[in-house]
Amino acid sequence: MTTIPTIDLIDALKQDYADKSPSEILELALNQTGEIAISFSGAEDVVLIDMAYRLRKPFRVFSLDTGRLHPQTYQFLEKVREFYNINIEVCFPESEATQNLVTQKGLFSFFKDGHQECCGIRKVQPLRKKLATLDGWITGQRKDQSPTRNNVPIIEFDAGFSAPDKQLIKYNPLANWTSQDVWNYIRMMEIPYNPLHEQGFVSIGCEPCTRPVLPNQHEREGRWWWEEATHKECGLHAGNLN
Ligand code: ADX
Ligand code: SF4
Repeated sequence: MTTIPTIDLIDALKQDYADKSPSEILELALNQTGEIAISFSGAEDVVLIDMAYRLRKPFRVFSLDTGRLHPQTYQFLEKVREFYNINIEVCFPESEATQNLVTQKGLFSFFKDGHQECCGIRKVQPLRKKLATLDGWITGQRKDQSPTRNNVPIIEFDAGFSAPDKQLIKYNPLANWTSQDVWNYIRMMEIPYNPLHEQGFVSIGCEPCTRPVLPNQHEREGRWWWEEATHKECGLHAGNLN
């Protein structure tokens, strides 16, 4: 075990790990002291769970259940739980805030006034609550996913979710992998994947806000398609917009 890196150590680690594989970056994260967990969306980021499993180290996984995921994603979460014999810590939105939003604005307010409010209640607030209990989190973000993710580092200080008395570290082991690398891994290792991928879905979020993409369309065009490409962060990774 090594101690959780301080902000000034992060740059050195970034350099040391610049050419390392996702599995090595993941191992670095899992070797840190403190509470660290993989943030699993129920999509291609299943590769992180598979890599962690193969490292034979204890690891934690959490998922944000927005209440609006596809049935296939719920089934996939369950499949992964059983396949790897792991617990998935499921985080739910706060009921009063969700109820107020739906009562006042209906179930599809995001199509009229943008996704930020609903994502704020269903994703960001539950994530904030979860991260307050952790010292580090591991995500499946990649540079090739979106114009907003071109500069995603393999390891960073998460200013947006750190508390004044606790620095939170964010690991993005897949940052330098392409979509093709991810899919080569899924096929080579024959691991389970979300069946929505067989229907043209690439990036998968909530059911009302995700649609399949056409050949050669960028994966992010299937998310919040009625909004500007440069605004497509829901707040989980808002630091990417800085
Ligand atoms: S999003 O911010 O636009 O929704 P995206 O779907 O690209 O994110 O996923 C990037 C990473 O964010 C995932 O690999 C995962 O680490 C985290 N993430 C996204 N959605 C969830 C979720 N519902 N539960 C847990 N982690 C999530
Ligand atoms: Fe709400 Fe859509 Fe955001 Fe899901 S992706 S939390 S349904 S706005």
